[in-house]
Amino acid sequence: MNESILITGANIGLGKEVARQLALKKETKRIILFCRNQVKAESAKKDLEVQTGKKIFEIIIGDVSDANSVRKAIEKVKDPIDAVILNAGGMVGKTAAKITPSGMNELAATNILGHVILVEELVKRDKLKKAVLFVSAEAVPGVKALGMKPVAMKTSSVDDFAAVLDGSYFGNKFDVTQAYGYVKYAGTMWALSMARKYPDLKFIVVSPGNTKGTLAPNNLPPAMKFMLKYLMMPVVFPLMGGMIHKLEVGAKRFVDGISEERYKSGIFYASKEGKLSGDMVDQSTFYTDLKNTIFQDNADRAIHRFIK
Ligand SMILES: NC(=O)c1ccc[n+]([C@@H]2O[C@H](COP(=O)([O-])OP(=O)(O)OC[C@H]3O[C@@H](n4cnc5c(N)ncnc54)[C@H](OP(=O)(O)O)[C@@H]3O)[C@@H](O)[C@H]2O)c1
Repeated sequence: MNESILITGANIGLGKEVARQLALKKETKRIILFCRNQVKAESAKKDLEVQTGKKIFEIIIGDVSDANSVRKAIEKVKDPIDAVILNAGGMVGKTAAKITPSGMNELAATNILGHVILVEELVKRDKLKKAVLFVSAEAVPGVKALGMKPVAMKTSSVDDFAAVLDGSYFGNKFDVTQAYGYVKYAGTMWALSMARKYPDLKFIVVSPGNTKGTLAPNNLPPAMKFMLKYLMMPVVFPLMGGMIHKLEVGAKRFVDGISEERYKSGIFYASKEGKLSGDMVDQSTFYTDLKNTIFQDNADRAIHRFIK
């Protein structure tokens, strides 16, 4: 049972909906909304209090793409936390390929850098008691029917992972929709390596599936955003079946993943092969690189090249 939960990127989309659902569980006593913008965070907190009738929300301000900002934010965590949901992220938008002071590009820094620092610092300070959930995506195993190829790293070596994180892996052709899958793969493998390193904690990876009602499509290149918003989301996905669901359903995957014992540490749970909705299954049954502990450790080592 998780009494206290910290959620990154909790002011909107999946993060906010997870906060709402967790607040309605009777065991939940404290929810920390880890957000980068004070005004948006205050507005989400107010809204969540009205929606749930609970005054259990706290705010910590931090930018997960910025190591120093996250380190400063960690100082605000006074009492231990049971569970952390590493949700902030997505495709980031126009600045995805821009190199941040860490050396990672913004896409990787947002989805991975601050999350790794946050978890590792909390563990070091004995402030993380039970569980961590890293948010990944079906972009890792790919979705054949949509022409989304699986992530296929050349070697999954430390150098390959590091090249994904600074963008050099993609040469001059940085396509954010492709790079996103590779970055989520690196973060996923880090989380799976942590599951072996810390057997007393639950480290789980979950994809929300293809979820309506978030701001994620706004970060896509304009033509793709248009197609997704006006053709794929309302017409094509519903016709295909098992390809899209409501915000409540996507967020419930995180709530179940972090709360229920049937979801085990060291596993990446997402939709069945070729789907983007429906039951969650262990992705390593058909995307077998996830089981490779050398690849997992390589991702971990590559990420630490960027953490000083
Ligand atoms: N929606 C889907 O169908 C889908 C599918 C697979 C995976 N996912 C994953 O689910 C997660 C949540 O996505 P979403 O769809 O809910 O997206 P969203 O509506 O765009 O919300 C993203 C959240 O992350 C926050 N964020 C972004 N960059 C940040 C930073 N540098 N520091 C702190 N917070 C930051 C945003 O804050 P601001 O409001 O300040 O920007 C916002 O609260 C992401 O990791 C995404 O990759 C989503």
